[in-house]
Amino acid sequence: MGKIVLAGDHGAVELKKQITDFLKKKNIDITDLGTFGDAAVDYPDIALAACREFLKGGYDFGILLCGTGIGVCITANKVKGIRCALVSDLFTAEMAKAHNNANFIAFGGRVAYATPVTAMIEKFMTTAYEGGRHERRIAKMMALDKQG
Ligand code: RB5
Repeated sequence: MGKIVLAGDHGAVELKKQITDFLKKKNIDITDLGTFGDAAVDYPDIALAACREFLKGGYDFGILLCGTGIGVCITANKVKGIRCALVSDLFTAEMAKAHNNANFIAFGGRVAYATPVTAMIEKFMTTAYEGGRHERRIAKMMALDKQG
């Protein structure tokens, strides 16, 4: 696994640190676009910056964080070419890759997950996209990018 772009707002600074520590131990190349402190930032700005960075190419996927994961996820899904999944457990982590071939996953720093976020990321990273019938469904989703 090569390269991941990561960004979050002030609602997920500690979670982002846990994730970067986890990814560094795996020798994964990370582009961390912040935020790095407690000062409030607007999650649409953070999410858009990460999506634009991802779309430059060379990334395996991206991780977006805010208080709930919802704001960054909604924002990312408005950017052409992005499929961001709001992951909440190992099952949704697996399906986000196997069925949706998501290129971003989102989490909330203020959410009390039953499963560690790092375990969900690991599940996403180690699951293969199934292709087949899902290819048609993904093509239909992505065709909406052209409708504006
Ligand atoms: C910021 O207070 C909060 O609204 C944000 O982190 C996120 O939860 C939005 O969806």
